[in-house]
Amino acid sequence: MTEAATTDLAPAKGNPTRPIVIAANRLPVMRDDETETGWSPSPGGLVRALLPMLRDSGGTWVGWTGEADDAPAPFTIDGIDVHPVEISTEEIELYYEGFSNDGLWPLYHDALRESTFDAHQWDAYHRVNERFAITLANIAPPDAIVWVHDYQLQLVPAMLRRQRPDVTIAFFLHIPFPPVELFSRLPWRDQIIEGLLGCDLVGFQRPIGAANFTACAHQLLDAKVDDDVITHAGHDSVVGHFPISIDFAEVEEMAAGRATRKLTSQFRTRLGDPEVILLGVDRLDYTKGIGLRLRAFAALLESGELDAERCVMVQVATPTREAVEHYQDERHEIERLVGEINGRYSRIGLPVVHYLYQTLSYDDLIALYRAGDVMLVTPFRDGMNLVAKEYAAAHIDGDGVLVLSEFAGAADELTDAVLVNPHDDRALQEAIITAVEMHRGERRTRMGALRDQVRRMDVQGWADRFLAAMESVSERA
Ligand code: F6P
Repeated sequence: MTEAATTDLAPAKGNPTRPIVIAANRLPVMRDDETETGWSPSPGGLVRALLPMLRDSGGTWVGWTGEADDAPAPFTIDGIDVHPVEISTEEIELYYEGFSNDGLWPLYHDALRESTFDAHQWDAYHRVNERFAITLANIAPPDAIVWVHDYQLQLVPAMLRRQRPDVTIAFFLHIPFPPVELFSRLPWRDQIIEGLLGCDLVGFQRPIGAANFTACAHQLLDAKVDDDVITHAGHDSVVGHFPISIDFAEVEEMAAGRATRKLTSQFRTRLGDPEVILLGVDRLDYTKGIGLRLRAFAALLESGELDAERCVMVQVATPTREAVEHYQDERHEIERLVGEINGRYSRIGLPVVHYLYQTLSYDDLIALYRAGDVMLVTPFRDGMNLVAKEYAAAHIDGDGVLVLSEFAGAADELTDAVLVNPHDDRALQEAIITAVEMHRGERRTRMGALRDQVRRMDVQGWADRFLAAMESVSERA
């Protein structure tokens, strides 16, 4: 998700008929001394997707402030009841950086890096999940829908069900769910599946995630599977896929603004008015394939298929999880590559790679998307990748080419992108050349189709579809 600061949020189209309680690792607000309330909206698409609906229905959000040992009393902001869950310094290390981001994260992303499986980290994960479950059990109204989010909280559904069998419990996983061959490596695999089977509804980004989870439940726990219903310990869980999206109208409106147009043209000028701007925007994560894309760019400059006097590459790499070693290693490698390429191909005053290890404002990002002639989204594995959707929404001129990895969830829907296997070096180089040399007519046809797709399947539609599914499973129960 991009690091946008949520601004004005549109009213929700469809609202749940029952009280809704969200649980996510992070709260929708973070501490901010500069504002009157002391809080400002947290970055990220999840908050943008859910806040309008919650605000209109007077919902509740349970999560962490993002600060160590920080447990302010529950408060209401913008019509939402906020219930902070305290996480200690040691738990940040063991539960967040450790089990969640050094154990589960690599395992769930094709085991691209070695996972750490450590019993102390598992204990902390269990403890923090229990704290969330207790908070939820204490505050959820009798007929509530409790919607738990993401890999940090997979034990919460079963823990909550034991305490509150009366509420409807749903879970959405924002990242991929791995195949059983990989998932089975996890020493606590049964507990995780049992945790999720506490749900009435378990949602994934892609059909393959839902299929992988179903296979794990069947093979590891001998759960009964009947179509999209898994039965375990006398309880039914419905499994489905719900690809998340962006607020298309908001991005389009921002992209059309005068300020954005001005900024876009300033960016182009500052980049030396090149014929082609290749763009990458990612959290600095080893799953994103940033190094791979830099190497492809370098190979094309070396072979002469791209001309350093005509092309530049802009790579925004947003800082993330900096305490985790795999992330530190990835940063070193990317920065080494940027230095090497610039040293070799830049001219005085005109670097060929513009690299920003920074969190840009949403305004800057939208202007940058508009400036980008070719957007490179080349993850080795990604749950969805909202950057790909934001790029299409921002291209109100109907131009621009998206090069997209087949291994991003977005590839299921964005079939008019130039799809590529990022593990194939030459295929990636060829995809970049195809994008750079594509004729205007084909660019416009493809971009038109991408924009239609994202417009049709926007984030409000995602939230509406998920809520409708939750209502329908609760009626079955
Ligand atoms: O993609 C999964 C995710 O957890 C998103 O929900 C979040 O925006 C991003 O990764 C960054 O996560 P965090 O900074 O909370 O580790």
